[in-house]
Amino acid sequence: MCGIVGYIGNREAYPVIIKGLKRLEYRGYDSAGVVLYDGTGLKLAKTKGKVSDLEEKAAKEISTGGSIGIGHTRWATHGVPNDVNSHPHFSNSGNIAIVHNGIIENYEPLKKELKKRGYTFQSDTDTEVLANLIEDVKKKDNLKIGKAVQVALNQVVGAYAIAVFDKEKPDEIVCARLGSPLAIGVGKDEFFVASDASPFIEYTSNAIYLEDEEMAIISLGKPMKIRKIKDDSLVDPYIQELQINLEQIEKGGYDHFMLKEIYEQPNVITDTYRGRLHANEGLIKMAGIEDNLQKFLNAPRILIIACGTSWHAGLVAEYIFEEFARIPVEVEYASEFRYRNPIINENDVVIAISQSGETADTLAAIKLAKEHGAFVFGVCNVVGSSISRETHAGAYTHAGPEIGVASTKAFTTQITVLTLIALRLAQAKGTLSNSMFHRYLQELELIPEKVSEALETNDVAKAIADIYKDAPNCLYLGRGYNFPVALEGALKLKEISYIHAEGYPAAEMKHGPIALIDEQMPVVIIAPRQEHYDKIVSNIQEIKSRSGKIIAIVTRGDVQVKELADHVIEIPETTDALSPLITTIPLQLLSYHIAVMRGCNVDQPRNLAKSVTVE
Ligand code: AGP
Ligand code: GLU
Repeated sequence: MCGIVGYIGNREAYPVIIKGLKRLEYRGYDSAGVVLYDGTGLKLAKTKGKVSDLEEKAAKEISTGGSIGIGHTRWATHGVPNDVNSHPHFSNSGNIAIVHNGIIENYEPLKKELKKRGYTFQSDTDTEVLANLIEDVKKKDNLKIGKAVQVALNQVVGAYAIAVFDKEKPDEIVCARLGSPLAIGVGKDEFFVASDASPFIEYTSNAIYLEDEEMAIISLGKPMKIRKIKDDSLVDPYIQELQINLEQIEKGGYDHFMLKEIYEQPNVITDTYRGRLHANEGLIKMAGIEDNLQKFLNAPRILIIACGTSWHAGLVAEYIFEEFARIPVEVEYASEFRYRNPIINENDVVIAISQSGETADTLAAIKLAKEHGAFVFGVCNVVGSSISRETHAGAYTHAGPEIGVASTKAFTTQITVLTLIALRLAQAKGTLSNSMFHRYLQELELIPEKVSEALETNDVAKAIADIYKDAPNCLYLGRGYNFPVALEGALKLKEISYIHAEGYPAAEMKHGPIALIDEQMPVVIIAPRQEHYDKIVSNIQEIKSRSGKIIAIVTRGDVQVKELADHVIEIPETTDALSPLITTIPLQLLSYHIAVMRGCNVDQPRNLAKSVTVE
């Protein structure tokens, strides 16, 4: 996610920027940097690590005077976390400095073109390409920085919140946004630019939130101009007086990080397939897969190793890979795999899934697989994490930092990446017809909107939570693609509300667990309209005949289950294979509300850590 802070005014910029970057620490980051202008030249300090490391470096390396500057905390997407890849980035002339939150999807073709024009690059980031693109446009068309930024952004595909400073126009900061948040603090003879209001709320409560595809040129002594990037039309600045405190800002106005992250899922699923899913062209572009395609295609099987929620994502992937690409898949708990002397062939492909990229069991399992000569592919959420460095190749989920201990957006973005991989392999193997392949691509593009619709069940989930918040136990049932979702729903409930919950394949009930059913047992059953729907209806009847309390997740408009269940939560329809991305949403909301009603510490549940870096 990262954070941006800019300042122009009558104070010393450095302390405002540094303190502002610390306010943004909750957004997660791996490196930080600042550039200041004191009337003579640009002074830069940037480093891998924390803002405190930046402070140490700045104190040694630069004089920190000046009343204009921009700063950044990075959450790497392109280029591992290190000093060179940290922001701010400069254009080749050294005049233009930029900080950026987001992803420039088409940075590779832009970089190729700029190299042809003689530009050189110091970093591996997409952001540095934008710095040189702005310079190129500025020089070619002899433009001022504001216009150059505007023209350059019209060539960019992707997401950005940027602040740009040009030494040749040192009395202004240009900022713009598309897809990533940007707020402007309006003080008395001073302006602040930031990813949210937390860096400037102590100085001013007057804020302007840029809308998508808007840009602003802020300078002292001149009225701020906001323009539409596309057509240059002027926008009336809407200054609002904020009535929120710091803590509310960090949680985006939500009561907990977990709820904020549940609601971030439409955006982060979009970010995760951004630049990879090209539905109109019928293409999936993932460098890590393309570079190793034969290994996947020749693999006798795919081994998936993970823990917890990531293991559940692996189970969903097993159904998807076998259905789409017809490649045998085995899903293993990393903690078991590493000790049971498993059979690993050198042609096996291993996929390691980990949000944190630091889970000790998963890391150990990867090393074991590599010792046996297997090719290991990582699916991580943290760029430069141990697992991302230990694996031979990989693909990142772009979920942004997940602060809540209970994984939510990690789960859905992992499934998104794994689905893209399975579809790409199916296309290469010809195991999916062209029409089906295109259909899945188009449906995948619709998923963020359908997740947003599923989030609208929040009030229904909350009402049901109030009825069952004191239940001592709970059962979660699902079939096919939604069996792993049942396991995941049960894990969510038990880890944040401390209610004992179990997930089962619905058809497995008759092999014992149905003995548990009585009027005290709430049963959450995932029953969307999909293959074997009639069988899950029978399972529901079996439970009802034993007085179980049925909470059913159904496709909008369902009639049959509605007549049987005590409660239904209706979600939009999608194809079976993509349904876990939708069915998991009400289960996340249900467990969240039950935990809150039980007074549990939702973001830091007892006994748990966000990343289990020990055995
Ligand atoms: C899930 O909500 C938990 N946070 C936990 O099961 C987690 O999924 C597991 O520890 C694996 O973590 P990782 O994805 O960072 O490897
Ligand atoms: N894509 C840019 C990078 O990897 C910005 C990432 C961020 O939002 O911090 O440097």
